[in-house]
Parts: sequence; C-alpha cells; structure tokens
Amino acid sequence: MTKASAPGKIILFGEHAVVYGRPALAVPVTQVHADVEVSDSSRPGIWIDAPDINVHAELNTFPSDHPIASVIHNFLFLSRVSSFPNLEIKIASTVPVASGLGSGAAVTVALVRALSLHLHHSMTDEEVNAFAYEIEKLHHGTPSGIDNTVVTYAKPVYFIKGETIEIFKAGQPFTIVIGYTGVSALTKESVADVRYLWRNDKSRWETMFDKAGEISFTARRAIEAGKSEVLGELMNENHALLQKLTVSSKELDLLVEAAWDAGATGAKLSGGGRGGNMIALVQTERSEDVASALMSAGAKRTLITTIS
Ligand code: MEV
Repeated sequence: MTKASAPGKIILFGEHAVVYGRPALAVPVTQVHADVEVSDSSRPGIWIDAPDINVHAELNTFPSDHPIASVIHNFLFLSRVSSFPNLEIKIASTVPVASGLGSGAAVTVALVRALSLHLHHSMTDEEVNAFAYEIEKLHHGTPSGIDNTVVTYAKPVYFIKGETIEIFKAGQPFTIVIGYTGVSALTKESVADVRYLWRNDKSRWETMFDKAGEISFTARRAIEAGKSEVLGELMNENHALLQKLTVSSKELDLLVEAAWDAGATGAKLSGGGRGGNMIALVQTERSEDVASALMSAGAKRTLITTIS
C-alpha cells in the first residue's frame, strides 16, 4: 500500500489580484489535510472510496469531468501505463470543501503523489505542481496557480503567476485565527465575477490590483523582518480592497468586525470570498479569545495556526 498527504492552505494577502499578475502570499495549514492510500486490488477496475463526499464506486462509473476521475485519467494518460492496473484508492480529507482552504488542490496533490509512488512513475515537485495546475484549470476557470503551488510545496510562498516560485520564511512566528463562515462559495464564480468587473473598467481595477500587489510586497518584507505588528493594518487595507471588488459578504464582514472587536490586530477575508474563510492576525495570548468571539459572531468553526 502507498500513502501520500497534502495540507490545506490560506491566502494571507493578494487573492484575486494574483490572477492579474500581482504578487500574493499563501501559507500551508497543516492542521487540515488530504490523505490518500493506493493499494493493489483483487477485483477488476479502479475502485475509489471517498467517504467524506459519499463516493464508493469504480472509476468508469464517474462522469469524466468529476474532479477525482479527472486526476486519475490524466495521471494514467501522463504515465503511459499500458494496461490499467486494478487498484483500491482511499481518499480522506479534513479540508472543508468550497471553503477557501484549498480542498481541491490538496486532494489532487495527495492523489497524484500516491499514484506516482504506487505505480513507480516518479514525479518531481515541479511536475506535481504543473499537473495540479492543469487540474485546477479544468475546474476553476482561470486560476493563478497559487493554490496548487502552496499545497505542493507545503511552504509559505510569495507567488507571481508565471514566475519562479519564491519560498519565504517568517523572521518571527505569528499567529492567525481562521474563521469559517459556514457558507460554501465557489472560487470559480467569484473569479469570473471579478473578471466581468475588470473587463468593464480595466483602468479602475488595474489600479486596485496594483494596491493589493504593493500590500503583498510590503507584507512579505515585514514578515521576513519579523515585524508582524504592521501586518494587521495591511490586512485591513487588503480587506477593504476586496470589499470594493465585491467578493466579501455580510457573513465575512461580520466575522472581520468581530475579530477587530475582540482585539485582533487585523483581519480580512481569505481566498475566493463570498463565503469560505476569513483570517485574523492576533497576539498569541489573545488567540482563544478571538476564536471564541468569532464563534459567537456566527463562525461555524475556527482554527488557530502559527506561521513560522
Ligand atoms: C483562491 O484561493 C485565490 C484566488 O486568487 C484565485 C486564484 O488565485 O486562482 C481568488
């Protein structure tokens, strides 16, 4: 039997603007992960067991555009396996679906790594990342590639679409509370809506994306220098830009305000928006208080994570 895992992720700064070539920062969230086990099977076919999404079926019964089926078909095509092996594939994920934590990318990366190990078709991180980007494009329209990148490398990344990936390190650890609105929202839709806005007034939104890009650039410097105290204000500014882009929601704004009231130094939505998650920068000793304030304000779950 062969196993592989991949973490969830959050975007710290620069979501949406990253689709238009501006830098963004993302970090892995290892408390949530996708885990895949592949083993040889005595029954014919490729059997997939993914209890979290209620899937127990043979590959050929899936629609070909099903996210899991497309990973397996693409992998078999890429690896040029001459005859399809009989396999049992177990997929378990604690990354909530459609919440902005990169659930799709985590399953893709864990699944392709487990298949490549099991079928002795070795893949470098670059190849896994390129593979996962192709899958993201099938399901998410025009993704920047940041989600598959941070999930593949499982390290903090400073990401500019089409450029060499830069891994960064925090000069001092800092603490983030993640609050889930309970509203599932498709990134594909918010990205498409932003594209519609941009098409109708390119100069306005390009200026906005420039501002978001500058925030990411400044934030990276501050994180590397261990000056996390300036990040709070940058988060607030980034959230205001995302509100203008229409990708916030009343649930997200409520949680952002609750975080501020509970003493967070800054807060913003994280990921595609319209639902999903927000993040708050907190002093470590205030993290439990901020997390419980978020729950009282309607969050469906919270996670406390340290970026180091
Ligand atoms: C989603 O995690 C981040 C977005 O910027 C989309 C993308 O970069 O592909 C909203």
